[in-house]
Amino acid sequence: MIAVRAPGRVNLIGDHTDYNEGFVLPLAIDLETVVRARPRDDAEIRLHSETSGWDRYAAGVAEVLAARGRADVGIEGTISSSVPVGAGLSSSAALEVALALALCAAAGFELPPLELALACQEAELVATGVPCGIMDQLASAAGVAGHALLIDCRSLEVRPIPIPAGLAVLVVHSGVERRLVDSAYAERRAACEAVAARLGVRALRDATPEQVADDPRARHVVAENERVLAASDALAAGDTAALGPLLAASHASLRDDFEVSTPELDALVAALEEAGALGARLTGAGFGGCAVALVPAPDAGRVAERASAAYRAETGLEPRTFHCRAAAGAGKIAR
Ligand code: GLA
Repeated sequence: MIAVRAPGRVNLIGDHTDYNEGFVLPLAIDLETVVRARPRDDAEIRLHSETSGWDRYAAGVAEVLAARGRADVGIEGTISSSVPVGAGLSSSAALEVALALALCAAAGFELPPLELALACQEAELVATGVPCGIMDQLASAAGVAGHALLIDCRSLEVRPIPIPAGLAVLVVHSGVERRLVDSAYAERRAACEAVAARLGVRALRDATPEQVADDPRARHVVAENERVLAASDALAAGDTAALGPLLAASHASLRDDFEVSTPELDALVAALEEAGALGARLTGAGFGGCAVALVPAPDAGRVAERASAAYRAETGLEPRTFHCRAAAGAGKIAR
């Protein structure tokens, strides 16, 4: 019997930077996808699941693993997930990584976490056509319990940074599913690549603030990379007071320059800040889904309640709160 798990992720700061070869600071979370299965005699993948739509991901994952030399051994079993879909918490990356681990285990094939993440990033493109970056799959594959991950999306080096014990990570769903995210995502990525080409740099990672001063999209990326590095330094130093302004600036930049926020996410971020969060911002690709907030741990329950009440009163929407802990990366489930 094969039993594997792969976590979703929340990004503390650094959105729309990964595909510009920049920096991100996500953590794997304690919401996860689990596959329990046994190998089959043929190449079929048969899984019972309460959620539909996993099959195109399975086909994508099987295809990219075959290209890497996995023997075509099928599996039969169940798939279940606590990662909400359409929330910006990487339910699809968790699905891909869990499926990949199960398929690898069935065939006695092994890939190190980075190779697994790269394969699953490719599977996402095969399955959905979305040219995503490496953040989600790598966070799911390489998570470290109690730590955020500073990822250099050029070298793909992952540096775990301990999350101070006094700091809680709150994730609040705006109650609005992500919309238009696929087409707008590809459009934003293409716009960034066009600026890099015009400037004659390999990626926006290499552009200076002066070079992008007049281009809002590129300006977001260049400034966001600096904020990620500042935030990871602050986190590593336990300087939690420095994090709030960085998260606020990130949200403003995603809203005004990169234009991927929504009125609901703006209202939710404001409600979290007013309720006593150190900082809050939209997380992930945007266009709906969740906000993330950093909160002094003893206040987490109260901040969540107050922010939810204010948000509900203002928008009439029902927010959903997740108190997230930084989880270990994907792997076999210990018996
Ligand atoms: C999605 C993509 C990631 C990343 C984020 C935005 O989650 O899958 O690669 O680009 O959006 O930061």
